[in-house]
Amino acid sequence: MFSNDKGILKLMATQLTNDALSAIEADWLIIPLAEAAPLPAEVSKLDEAIGGQISRLIEAEDFTGKLASTATLLGLSGIKTPRILLAGLGPAKDLSLAALEKSLMTAARAISIKKEIRAAVLLPEVSESSLSAAQIARQISTAMTVGSVGQDLYRAEPGRFPFQEVSIAGADSAEVQQAITEGSILGEAVNLAREVVNRPAGDIFPVSFADKVLEVAKECGLEAEILDEKQLADEKMGSMLAVAQGSDQPPRLAILKHQGGAASAPTLALVGKGVTFDSGGLSLKPSDGMKTMKCDMGGAAAVLGAMTAIARLKLPVNVVGYMGLVENMVNGSSYKLGDVLTARNGKTIEVLNTDAEGRLVLADVLTLAVDRGASNLIDLATLTGACVVALGEDVTGVFSNTPAWSQAVQDAAKTTGESVWEMPMFPEFGEQLKSDVADLKNVGLRWGGAITAAKFLENFVSETPWVHLDIAGPAFASANLPHREGGATGCMVRTLVEVAREYKG
Ligand code: BES
Ligand code: MN
Ligand code: ZN
Repeated sequence: MFSNDKGILKLMATQLTNDALSAIEADWLIIPLAEAAPLPAEVSKLDEAIGGQISRLIEAEDFTGKLASTATLLGLSGIKTPRILLAGLGPAKDLSLAALEKSLMTAARAISIKKEIRAAVLLPEVSESSLSAAQIARQISTAMTVGSVGQDLYRAEPGRFPFQEVSIAGADSAEVQQAITEGSILGEAVNLAREVVNRPAGDIFPVSFADKVLEVAKECGLEAEILDEKQLADEKMGSMLAVAQGSDQPPRLAILKHQGGAASAPTLALVGKGVTFDSGGLSLKPSDGMKTMKCDMGGAAAVLGAMTAIARLKLPVNVVGYMGLVENMVNGSSYKLGDVLTARNGKTIEVLNTDAEGRLVLADVLTLAVDRGASNLIDLATLTGACVVALGEDVTGVFSNTPAWSQAVQDAAKTTGESVWEMPMFPEFGEQLKSDVADLKNVGLRWGGAITAAKFLENFVSETPWVHLDIAGPAFASANLPHREGGATGCMVRTLVEVAREYKG
């Protein structure tokens, strides 16, 4: 068990309200407003009730509606909420789900610094944008759930507190209510992924991660299976086991199954890199490069989070999540440079850098997923620093062997507002992985390192339509920003759920 475990997946009470804005009982009322737009009728009414304070802020240009800007009104009387936060949405015609999220995350973070806050949010009506009320409500609900949770689990005085209650005002329909519930399920899934990534390697190691998987499976009604080191050897996972052998912590492969479709329906397999700590092994990382390497199981965490939401939303599809859990450490049995490994699919791999360990873990787990009947594959991994150099800290790299499947994943990312960018898979990058002594070597040249890593993985997926997501940049944020907490981000959890929702095989 982890230290100070507070349990998991407690849905924040989030509901729809029909009350007039001035009658809503809450500690804060968040009013999202577009730039240079007239006040919506219900906001004008509220404005009147508080003596025109909102319109005065706007006239004085103390609040313009610029994206993610805020203004606060405190100590209010005449209405039921003592505080109002205006949240800028930017120009209405440019409103995207990503923009909406930035605005609402900023708002949630601004007001979650006290305990037990009851927050109310006005559902903005933006007729200029193509977003539906349900989409907007879902995004708000997720932002409230994610934005009010910090990374301060180990602090006696946390800097942030989950809201006690969230009410969303504006639209009264079953569809919007459903979207709000979905939004908080997604938010909880993101928070679960964040929590396991944020916990240090002393708390999260392969066995404790696997225990968490079992706990979560029970709570969400997922079928779970854990393979230990002996079973991994029986499965001939020589590539993954080589990485594990330098650690005193034994490896695990955790598998979660959601059987929402017919037995004959296709299976979507999600595969996550779960290196609970990456020291680099004998190709040891410098101290600075190791500081954040508790994040190296971000892929497995995304799979775990997504599987909880897929189960709770009862999506009518078959999805299996695979989490390859190892620690990449240094001891007397560490795998060595020059070692030749035999992967599960029989291919031999010359190890020329023990810090290129993620691909060695994924190689065997991908093969296992294929052997167990995956119709489509998505893997997620904090795989290469090169991907961060290429795309920055906020964009996930997409690599694939099947254009249509890649497009499906990119469409899902667009629907959820997560940023992804496809990278090329030219055969020349694969040529770099030819070895004189084995079928493959585990590293290529320095340049284009995110692509050679993807080319390496391609050797282990057979002909199965496959997408590799390199989340080395976006999985872990170096600092707090107004719109997001530093540390783990839970990136790609929502995209995976969206892929599953649209999955036809
Ligand atoms: N886990 C790292 C990649 C990483 C870097 C994740 C920065 C998050 C932030 C991975 O195992 C690694 O060490 N990759 C090497 C590959 C190289 C040896 C070919 C890298 O990127 O330097
Ligand atoms: Mn590494
Ligand atoms: Zn790694």
